[in-house]
Amino acid sequence: QPDTPLQGRNVLVTAGGTVERIDPVRYITNDSSGKMGYAIAEAAKRLGANVTLVSGPSALPVPAGVERISVTSALDMYDKVMARFEKTDLVFKAAAVADYRPAEQREQKMKKSGETLTIELVKNPDILQALGEAKTRQFVVGFAAETERVDEYAQGKLLRKKCDLLVANDVSMQGAGFGTDTNVVRIFDAGGLVEAPPMMTKAAIAEHIVRLAASRQQMRQQ
Ligand code: C5P
Repeated sequence: QPDTPLQGRNVLVTAGGTVERIDPVRYITNDSSGKMGYAIAEAAKRLGANVTLVSGPSALPVPAGVERISVTSALDMYDKVMARFEKTDLVFKAAAVADYRPAEQREQKMKKSGETLTIELVKNPDILQALGEAKTRQFVVGFAAETERVDEYAQGKLLRKKCDLLVANDVSMQGAGFGTDTNVVRIFDAGGLVEAPPMMTKAAIAEHIVRLAASRQQMRQQ
């Protein structure tokens, strides 16, 4: 019997960082490599799902059989994710979405002038929060990178954003966080800490997270 617990399920994964334009040649972004999200997409595909990967700019290869939708800004990611949410069964929101974007995106390159320069930023929509509020049957998994008070912040995010599971990593730890091939995570649900597996490769952690989400989603349907 094939080991495909996600057979027939539609899985949406977001990955990578968003790019917030200042002008035609400048932007704000972050250190997200996309590795965790791409590993999630690959694991979900291997476990039988139809996988759509909404990704910020990334040099990573698209896992075989996965449909990638390339996005740049948080607003762009928001639109692409929302458009697909209705048909989705499980969402993994591994993207590092910029919290703010420049209030205006200039059409011409900004010129050098004064000794200081202020760029006004405005808040981006929180995509995970919007999904948490819009969800009906969807199983929603959020991610959080923290540098301190990991458990407290993670639990707060899970409750505020109404996700079913939240995967937190302490990016200040060796072998964890942006760019690395390994990760150390702590997985929460509304009741608190569910699991704190040891340091593993992102591929192994991805498979673990996807299996956990799949079995919980299945339990809920019974
Ligand atoms: O940035 P933050 O730590 O709040 O991210 C936690 C979770 O929320 C992540 O899953 C991230 O993808 C998601 N998020 C989002 N839209 C934002 C900010 C974060 O979907 N604007």
